[in-house]
Amino acid sequence: MNSILIDTLKGKKTSRPPVWFMRQAGRILPDYNKLRETYSFTELMEDAKLASQITLMPVSELKVDAAILFSDILVVPAAMGMKFNFSEKGPKSSVTLKDMAHPVNFLKPDESKLEYIYRIIERINKEKSPDTPLIGFCGGPLTTLCYMIEGFGSSKDFPETVNFFYQRRKEAQKLIDLVTEVSIIYARQQIAHGIDVFQLFETHAGIIPADLYKEMILPSVQKIGNAVRETNTPFIFFPKGIGTGLKFMTKDIADFISIDWQTPLSVARKILPPEVGIQGNLDPRILLIKNKEDILNELEKYSGLFQENCNWIFNLGHGFLPNTPIENIQTTVKWVKNKNWI
Ligand code: CP3
Repeated sequence: MNSILIDTLKGKKTSRPPVWFMRQAGRILPDYNKLRETYSFTELMEDAKLASQITLMPVSELKVDAAILFSDILVVPAAMGMKFNFSEKGPKSSVTLKDMAHPVNFLKPDESKLEYIYRIIERINKEKSPDTPLIGFCGGPLTTLCYMIEGFGSSKDFPETVNFFYQRRKEAQKLIDLVTEVSIIYARQQIAHGIDVFQLFETHAGIIPADLYKEMILPSVQKIGNAVRETNTPFIFFPKGIGTGLKFMTKDIADFISIDWQTPLSVARKILPPEVGIQGNLDPRILLIKNKEDILNELEKYSGLFQENCNWIFNLGHGFLPNTPIENIQTTVKWVKNKNWI
C-alpha cells in the first residue's frame, strides 16, 4: 500500500505528517446530514452500502489520508446484551449495570451481533482505492464501561462509574475482563476482514486518577494492543485526559499515542519515549473560528514540530464538534499537505 499514514506508523520518514480526523465520518459532512434527513443513525450504521459510502466521504470531500470505519464504540456493549437507543438528542440506554447485584451475569456476549460490521469492512475494501488505509476501532475498556455502568447521564465525569470502581472493585475487574475479551475478538475480526490500522478510543481516561488507570485498565489496553500488533497492524491509543499518566505510555503499550487538546504536543513529546509516535492534537474548537487567517495562525504553531519529530500524525485533540464548517476543515488539510515541512 502506498500510504503516507502507514509509512509514518511503520517508522518511515515522510515529507509531511499524514492527516485524518477523529469523527471525520459524520455530522460535519453536508452529504452525511442529507442522508440523516431520510435515515436514522442506526440505519446508516447497519446498512453496508450506506455505511461504506459514509466511511469514504471524508476521503473525497476532505482529502484526508485515511478512512475510519463509520460505526460507534457502543456496538461492543450492544453485542454483550446492553440496549441503546440513538435518539435525536444522542444515545440513551434502557438498562445500566450500576444497580445490579451481579452485573457480569446479566451480560450475554454474542459475537455474531458484530458480523454485520465485517460485511461493511469488506464492502469498503471493494469500494475504496487500494492506497487509502482503513482505520478500525473500538472503545477503551473504561470508556465502554462508563456507558454500560452509568449510561448517558447528565455528567461527563461519570461519578457512578468512578464509585463503582472504588466500591465494587471485584465486580469492576470482572467487567473489565469481559469487555477486554470481547474487544480483542472484535479487533481481530476487524483486522481479518480488512482494516489496516486500529485505534482504541479511551475518551474518558481522565475520570479516574492516572495511577488507578495504570493499575486497573492499562493491562487490558496492553492485551488489546498486543492482539492487534501480533498481526502486524499498527495500534494507536487515545487516552484522553490522562495528563501526567502519559509517562506510562511506553512502546509496549502502543505504537502511537493520540494526544488530547489539553496537553501541548511539545510536552507530550518530552514525556513519551522517542520510539512512541504521537498523533494530534488541534483543539476542535479552533475550527469554529470564523476568520480563516486566525485558523492559519493557530495551525502555524505546529510548524516546528515535524523537523524534531517525524513520527507525528496530524489530527484533532478530540472529535469534531457538530457545527464545524467544512471549509475550515478543508483549509486545515490543505495547510498540512501544501506546507513545506522540511
Ligand atoms: O470517527 C469517525 O468519524 C468514525 C465514527 C465514530 C462515531 N463515533 C460515529 C458517531 C467513532 C470513532 C465514534 C466513537 C465514539 N462514540 C466515542 C469515542 C470518541 C469520542 O468522540 O469521544 C464515543 C464516546 C462514542 C459514543 C457516542 N456516539 C456518543 C456519546 C454519541 C452522541 C454524541 C455525539 O457526538 O453524537 C454518539 C453518536 C455518534 N457516533 C454519531 C456519529 C456520527 C452522531 C449520530 C448522528 O446523530 O448522526
